[in-house]
Formats: sequence, C-alpha cells, structure tokens
Amino acid sequence: MRNERVLYEFDDFRIDSGQFMLVRHGQPQPITPTVFRILLHLLGNAGRVVTKEELVSNVWPDSYVAEGNLNRNVSTLRKVLGEKPRDHRYIETIPKTGYRFIAPVRQTEYQPANGLMAVSAQPARRTIVGRSIERRDQLHTFDQMKEGRGGIVCLSGENGMGKTALTEAFLADLADRGDTFNLAVARCSEPLTQPEPYEPFLECVSSLLAAESTADLVRSHAPTWHRTITQAAEDGGGSGNGGGRMKREFYELLRQMSVAHPLVLVIDDFHWADIASVELLSFLASRLVTMRVLIVVCVRPVDLMLQKHPFLQARAQMAAGGLIKEIVLPPLTKSHIQELIASELPVGALSDDLASFVLARSEGNPLFAVEILRKLRQDAGFAKRQDAVPDPIRSLIRSRLEPLHETDRGLLAAASVQGYEFDSAILAKSLTMMPEEVEERLQAVCEVHGLIRRLRDEELMDGKFTVRYSFVHALCQLVCQESIPPTRKASLNSAVAEAFLSYYGN
Ligand SMILES: Nc1ncnc2c1ncn2[C@@H]1O[C@H](COP(=O)(O)OP(=O)(O)OP(=O)(O)O)[C@@H](O)[C@H]1O
Ligand SMILES: [Mg+2]
Repeated sequence: MRNERVLYEFDDFRIDSGQFMLVRHGQPQPITPTVFRILLHLLGNAGRVVTKEELVSNVWPDSYVAEGNLNRNVSTLRKVLGEKPRDHRYIETIPKTGYRFIAPVRQTEYQPANGLMAVSAQPARRTIVGRSIERRDQLHTFDQMKEGRGGIVCLSGENGMGKTALTEAFLADLADRGDTFNLAVARCSEPLTQPEPYEPFLECVSSLLAAESTADLVRSHAPTWHRTITQAAEDGGGSGNGGGRMKREFYELLRQMSVAHPLVLVIDDFHWADIASVELLSFLASRLVTMRVLIVVCVRPVDLMLQKHPFLQARAQMAAGGLIKEIVLPPLTKSHIQELIASELPVGALSDDLASFVLARSEGNPLFAVEILRKLRQDAGFAKRQDAVPDPIRSLIRSRLEPLHETDRGLLAAASVQGYEFDSAILAKSLTMMPEEVEERLQAVCEVHGLIRRLRDEELMDGKFTVRYSFVHALCQLVCQESIPPTRKASLNSAVAEAFLSYYGN
C-alpha cells in the first residue's frame, strides 16, 4: 500500500487514502478497513491485473489468509460499489489469476485543508467567560457534520451578546483539538444601496479561490461563481447571474469540496444578507444533511424584525423541518461577570458589590460589561455615579432609538422618568394619551425593537388594567432620560407624580 496520501475519483466515487474514506455523491459510504485496503490497492494499480497473492500480501501483510476470505471481501467491495452480479463495471475477475480495476480513474494530489491555517492565523484570542454549553453544542454539531450529517447553525443574540466572540472561540476550539477542515469566513455589510446578490457567499468563495488547496475545485465546479468573482474584480463591480445555476453550482462546489475535508462556512451579521443569499441558504438546508458541510450564521433578532427580513420566514420554515439549529445566547451570570472582572481589572478589584453593580448595569450583556469595566479601569469612581453611561454604549442605544416613531421615542422618554420599570396606564395619564394607544405602541416597541420587555398585566384600584414593562437594560432607561430637556423633565416628573396619585393615592 502507498504511504503518501492520495485522492482517487471514479464515477461518483471519491476515495481519500489518508482518511479511510469512500464517498459517493458527497456521502461517506460504510466500508471496513480491509475492504478499503483492497479497493485502494486495485485503484493504485488500475488497468493492470493484480494477482490474488499480491492482493493478499498487501492487504494482510502479516498473516495467513485463505483465498475464500479474499473472495468474500472482494464480493463485499462489489456490493459497496453497487456492482450487479453480471455487470462488473469496476472490478473485472481474471479467472484463476486475480482482479483488474477497469473503470477510468482520476488521481488527484492531496492538498492540506486551509482551515487550520486560517484559524491559527486569527489574531490574539479574546478571553471568553461562560458559553461552555454553547461551545460544546457547536463542537457536537461539527462532529456530526464530520460524520456526514452537516447542517446550519444560527447564533442569535442582540448587539454585543457575543455571537462573533463565540464563533471565534468555536474555531479556536477546533484548532486546539487539531481538527482539519476547510474554512471560509464572511460578513454581511449593512446595505446602503441595492445589495449585491449572494454577497456573503461570494466572499466565502473568494477566500476558497484564494487558497491554493481549494482554488481548483472552485474553478472546475463553480465556473459561474469564479467568473462573477474575477469579473467583479476586473470591472470593479458585481454582476447578476442566473439564480438557478448559481445555486446548483454552489451545491456542487460544497459537495466536491467536502469530500477531502469537512467544510465550515461562517457568515456573520446575516441579518444584513441579501435575499439571494437567504434563498441559497434555504436551498442548501435540506441538502446539507448528507454532506460534510457546516454553515454558521450570526443574527441580531431586532435587526431581522426591523427590516422584516426574509430570513425570518426562511428560518421558521427550516426550523419546522428540523433543518436549522438555533443557539440563542443567554446573558452572562454573576459568576461569569466575576470571572470577567478578575481578568480585566487589577488584582484585588473584585468584590461582591462590584460584580453586582456590573451585572445590574450590563444585565449580562458582554459588550456592556466589557465597556463598563473599561470605564472602571480609567475611573474607579465610575461605579458610584449611578447615571453614568459609557460612550460606546450610549451611541449604541441611541442608534437603537433612532428608527422609532417620534411618538414612541416620546413614550420611552416619559417612561424613563417613572423608572426602570413602568406602567402603561400611568404613562398614558401623564401624557394625556388613550391607554389603548399607549398599550399598542408599547407592545410594538417591545416586539419589533426589543428595547423594553413586558412583565405582567396588573389590575388598578379603579378596576382598569395596566401593563407593567421594564427597559431591557438599566442603561437604556438612562439614555432615554438623558434625551429629555430639563424643563420638560420637570413637567414630566410632576405629571407622573399626579398620575400615580390618581391611581394609587390615599
Ligand atoms: N463570553 C464572553 N466573555 C467575555 N467577553 C465577551 C464574551 N462575549 C463577548 N465578549 C466581548 O463583548 C464584546 C462584544 O462581543 P461580540 O462582538 O462577539 O458581540 P456580537 O454579538 O457579535 O455583537 P454584534 O451584534 O454587534 O456583532 C467584545 O468585546 C467581546 O470580546
Ligand atoms: Mg458580531
């Protein structure tokens, strides 16, 4: 048997000598090591008659094997290859002598995967706290994919919940385990004009084209993608292409590329994906389940809702068919925050009070926690100023408030005067608005913008109902409060006090 690693192809089959793997139509076929060795020896000598003695001495170099055993294994091999008894398309029997592999065989050189190189080329790893369940889940999904059951993972969480950080940690985990895979990473950008069809997938294919080990496969199996990328580079812009062909080619590319190594595609910020990319992902969903391909997409639910993004419907359909695994990132807990403080602040800074402060302010959002800790490093007194908001978080929250209707922004500003939690009825009264309208508007702000959450319905003293809400973050309440001019704030304060008195007074 040869020592170097070789890939053979014939008909729909691909064989990787280094992995003891026989793949048909992109799917690994069950095969025992002995049968595999027989196939490998026949392929390595395709077109030539291989005697039974030669086969036996190569496949079982150290033991005596009866001819019957060899015949049985060859017959198993024929079954694996789907040969019919009187239709030996691949293995010809030479009576009393041996066998000859007769189908045309293509031999390709083994190329190492780009995955490990790309991963180890990542910049310094960030400290990650918590997320052990999610990392285990991701590795488990990767392992299933390696066995030929690929799929799509959707990492979902609001700004700063750590989707990108978790993806990097997952890739680093794979590198630490020594897994070999091809990797392409892309990121969707916020579309300012008409987005280019397939933008993130084109970015993935571009990086596969740039890597020596995968470029040939792109050129031979996805010529339209190849043309689109090279033409875009020449013209300085992309060009539309037949959607059907693009999808089929992409599928074929994944199928071929995943034979030698598993393939991982990561697409960050998929909430900005163009519709063609969403359609391509849906098209692939059912096909990935038999392939060694894993696609990870990261999304912010609020951005999907605000745009009424087509991925919402596509994801629901995939989920109904069990074709997508959703991982929703939960907030960090107090012990995670303690770990973060220990790693980010000087020794001795960690105290129970400080951890509670950071947790209350950040509500477990890692970005908020990291920014608060950064501020604390610069100014230890920051923790004492209850109204202080780190600048990057202020800009982030303001950008979240911007798309709101003016009336809704006014509602939240008035609500922030009530406190972190607030009542819809008090809000309505203090603004002299209809309670039903306030409830409806708050409901929409809650569902679409995710800036507040509905806590419970409560009955008031006069028998009417109110809905109790809270801001999603204490910092969100502070930023809303900051937006009110001083005179307005004073009149709102007294209006809220009066409304309270009228409902709860005496
Ligand atoms: N588990 C964690 N432990 C420590 N730091 C974290 C963790 N998760 C995220 N971070 C830090 O929080 C910040 C935001 O994380 P990240 O960029 O991954 O969020 P995101 O969900 O991708 O946000 P966006 O939706 O804006 O892209 C980064 O500085 C990151 O290093
Ligand atoms: Mg991100």
